[in-house]
Amino acid sequence: MERLQKVIAQGGICSRRKAEELIALGKVQVNNEVITQMGFKVSAKDVVTVDGVIVERLEYKYLVMNKPRYVISSVSDEHQRQTVISILPEALQKYHLFPIGRLDYDTKGVLLLTNDGDFMNTLVGPKSQITKEYLVRVKGLISKPILRKLEQGIKIDDYVTRKCQTYLVSTDVKNRSSLAGIILMEGKYHQVKKMFAAVGYPVKRITRIKFGEISIDGLEEGQYRDLTPHEIKRLYVLSQGKSSD
Ligand code: URA
Repeated sequence: MERLQKVIAQGGICSRRKAEELIALGKVQVNNEVITQMGFKVSAKDVVTVDGVIVERLEYKYLVMNKPRYVISSVSDEHQRQTVISILPEALQKYHLFPIGRLDYDTKGVLLLTNDGDFMNTLVGPKSQITKEYLVRVKGLISKPILRKLEQGIKIDDYVTRKCQTYLVSTDVKNRSSLAGIILMEGKYHQVKKMFAAVGYPVKRITRIKFGEISIDGLEEGQYRDLTPHEIKRLYVLSQGKSSD
């Protein structure tokens, strides 16, 4: 069972707030009966209409994509650049998918996509305990004590980052660069770039290798697959800070 305003918004007619207005105005019917009660629940069998037009009931989709670099993590782009939605096949366009959180234009790796707004809010909302793991190529030879500083929390802009985990993968003395891993439970704008820059190591490249337990194993850049029901359930569990269900 789903709330009526959610079903209307999901049909792609309007936002959830607008759907609430339409319900209040008496423009919404369920099985030919006007419903003005907010939060009224409907099942998949109920016929919902807005101004007499049937609301298409879309199935929920949950995908993981290996986002390529130089693709925007949004639904559309005013400069007509490729987006994570525009690179999906035509058959998926009708599902009104959107990314769960964002990766920078020049970041590649694990990106989840869905058309379930509640799922997205659970995963990226302020209470979410999901970890995200990044491999980061930085300029300069980074050391473990510097990584420890990042782990303890560091001031970026007017904000101190939460405790996190890091590891050193390798240093390249010849090219004066290093590869490190960082596991964060938050996702502020440009957080990884700002954290490494704050300790004097500008970021060259970022790859997100995990979102919770979801990796891009087996996916070429630009490829995607459906999440399994078990993976979806695990993401809910992890978002609540539990490690087992
Ligand atoms: N942090 C960044 O700086 N960029 C990303 O794309 C993701 C996390």
